[in-house]
Amino acid sequence: VSVAAVVVAAGSGSRLGHDRPKAFVELAGRPLLEWSIALLQARPEVSQLVVVAPEAECGQLRQRWPAPVITVPGGDERSDSVRRGLAAVSAEAEWVLVHDAARPLVPEHVLTAVIGALRAGAPAVVPVLPVVDTVKLVAADGTIRSTVDRDSLRRVQTPQGFRRDVIVAAYAAAPGVTHTDDAGIVESYGAVPVSTVPGAEEAFKITTPHDLRLAELLAGPRLAGLPADDGWTGA
Ligand code: CTP
Ligand code: MG
Repeated sequence: VSVAAVVVAAGSGSRLGHDRPKAFVELAGRPLLEWSIALLQARPEVSQLVVVAPEAECGQLRQRWPAPVITVPGGDERSDSVRRGLAAVSAEAEWVLVHDAARPLVPEHVLTAVIGALRAGAPAVVPVLPVVDTVKLVAADGTIRSTVDRDSLRRVQTPQGFRRDVIVAAYAAAPGVTHTDDAGIVESYGAVPVSTVPGAEEAFKITTPHDLRLAELLAGPRLAGLPADDGWTGA
């Protein structure tokens, strides 16, 4: 099996409002990025790992994770960072996973489901969750226009999985286009269906200070899955 994983970690984390880029903010004493790297490195199917990081952090990351891990500088938008990560993926990889470093607590079963769907022939697959709250369409003045049928709505997570040729072609067909998720680019520019597998609440994205507090509550029991703490903080 040949799966390349691209972890995008080049964002600043403006909504989290920390003094360092979000991927280097600590969760249970470990930089967020470390959690995703540990998760992906533990998978025998993952044969290549590409980390996309803020330019200023690339040097220290290459010391921390030397080859075969590849560290490349990111771009202004998430899609720019993914593009740069994809450019570093080996042509020998059959599949590519794209994962947000901001989702440190993805359970193994989500990764298993995404890789399983790819191996079963899905050209593109995303982990999703149902929407539990009632959703409204609201006018600019705050009054409600209508209630949206939530049964057909899903919240989308990462890692998202793709046949390498599919995601590379979709990004190539969409130069300069920015999307908040990679499946969005494949939906618009790839002529393949995008499948879904069950995501997990723990795979939520750390966006706000509240999210980080929530993650701290969940992280303790998961620390056992990380390599021994050698004091690296990314600072
Ligand atoms: N990301 C990236 N390059 C960018 C923007 C985002 O690699 N130019 C990555 C982030 O590091 C994160 C993931 O994409 O792992 C999801 O983005 P988001 O949660 O929006 O992170 P930030 O853009 O860093 O946060 P904010 O939008 O609050 O500034
Ligand atoms: Mg962002």
